[in-house]
Amino acid sequence: MATATRPDQSQQTVNLAFESHYDMPRRTELPVRGELPTWLAGQLLRNGPGRWKFDGSEVNHWFDGMSLVHSFDIADGRVHYMNRFIESRAYKQFRSSGELSLSEFASDPCRTRFQRIQSVFRPQVTDNPAINAMKFGEHHIALSETPMAYEFDPTTLETVGVAYENPDTFATAHPHLDGASGELLNLSCKFGPRSSQSFFRVQPDTLAQMRIARLKRQHPTYQHSFGMSGRWLIFTEFPFRVNPLDILRSGRPFIENFEFHPEEGTKITLIDRETGAIGGEWQAEPGFCFHHVNAWEEGEDVVVDLCRFEDVSIVENLYLEKIREAGYPEDSAAYLHRYRLKPGAERAEEHRVSEEPIELPRINYKENNCRPYSYVYGVGMGHDGGVPFDRLVKIDATWGSATIWREDNCLVGEPVFVAAPDAKAEDDGVLLSLALDGEAERSMLLVLDARDMTELARAEISRAVPPGFHGNFSRS
Ligand code: CO
Repeated sequence: MATATRPDQSQQTVNLAFESHYDMPRRTELPVRGELPTWLAGQLLRNGPGRWKFDGSEVNHWFDGMSLVHSFDIADGRVHYMNRFIESRAYKQFRSSGELSLSEFASDPCRTRFQRIQSVFRPQVTDNPAINAMKFGEHHIALSETPMAYEFDPTTLETVGVAYENPDTFATAHPHLDGASGELLNLSCKFGPRSSQSFFRVQPDTLAQMRIARLKRQHPTYQHSFGMSGRWLIFTEFPFRVNPLDILRSGRPFIENFEFHPEEGTKITLIDRETGAIGGEWQAEPGFCFHHVNAWEEGEDVVVDLCRFEDVSIVENLYLEKIREAGYPEDSAAYLHRYRLKPGAERAEEHRVSEEPIELPRINYKENNCRPYSYVYGVGMGHDGGVPFDRLVKIDATWGSATIWREDNCLVGEPVFVAAPDAKAEDDGVLLSLALDGEAERSMLLVLDARDMTELARAEISRAVPPGFHGNFSRS
């Protein structure tokens, strides 16, 4: 695999982003350089792994760090910031004992042979909700692929408790929101002798759940997100799958039981959002994806966009020891990829939309989710490998052209789109990204004009914090 050597300073920036951090639970006003739009008022909540190490004991993978929730309160051109760890069982035990007690994505607790045999009968899955944070109804929740969502107080970020438990062992941290009903729709997975993957909905007020469809799968595929159009739920099964018994028997961490079978190709299934009925199945080229971008109907056709990797090497490349190696693989980028599902066809039509790498994709969700759209925003990397996430990109989803913001030694996080209140165009608004200035050794909230990707302002935090994965903005 080809690798590119990073300049020392870039490597230091990357290392700084993956150091273990302490929380900053005191709400602090940040100095702002530049000018924030006067209309920008509300709260940006973000979540992601913030601590990988206690007392010299470290987890293996980026995804295994403990959930750190960040809050940026924005009003009248001013920004207040704080962050706090979610007090999950996994976090409290890791903090007090310096050792993992529950199984994470790619790290397992040390167990004696006897404990391992016991755990086959009572698997101890983590409750560390380190992937996403969102406001759902009046609840503020932190999510991961764990069996439950945690609720926290949006003012103090203190953990309230478990918000709801998923119907199955796992669910994605990327639910969709139904604009009309306010319901949350998600995809779960049950591992066992009779495994299945299910779509379910959660009520915003009561948090009551209802299953929409259950699909029996002997060897379930890894699912990080799914697509949704006006009528359909889109279940994309890339051939990265597991024999569930291996999770119990192998003694290996969760994700290391999955195997890539490119010869099997990818299967895309449409499921009716209302009835749960299957609307069709299509075959496609193999590959892998974490994030769907958008989907919509065009007459009888369904169009699905996602960020596609050629293979599953990205999972390997995000082990902490790989990230810290000077040399990130060149060929580990994802690209915007489009499928067209035509009724009666066996295969999906598919093509790469843009040659610009993109991950952690966001769109103008409120206006354009489930509809044709023009722009996707995300984090990118150079074509020569080097530093991943060293730029913010905006891709024209029709033509594939890209506009880029970047700065030397700056590592960026997912850009969250916030529309201007009187927006006349899809991209009339700002992007908010938690970025790390490696040279100054501190993080900042970066505010870009989404129309041309120019910087409007930055609000500087006094030290470095990890950029994390995902977040959402709610207006005040
Ligand atoms: Co994600």
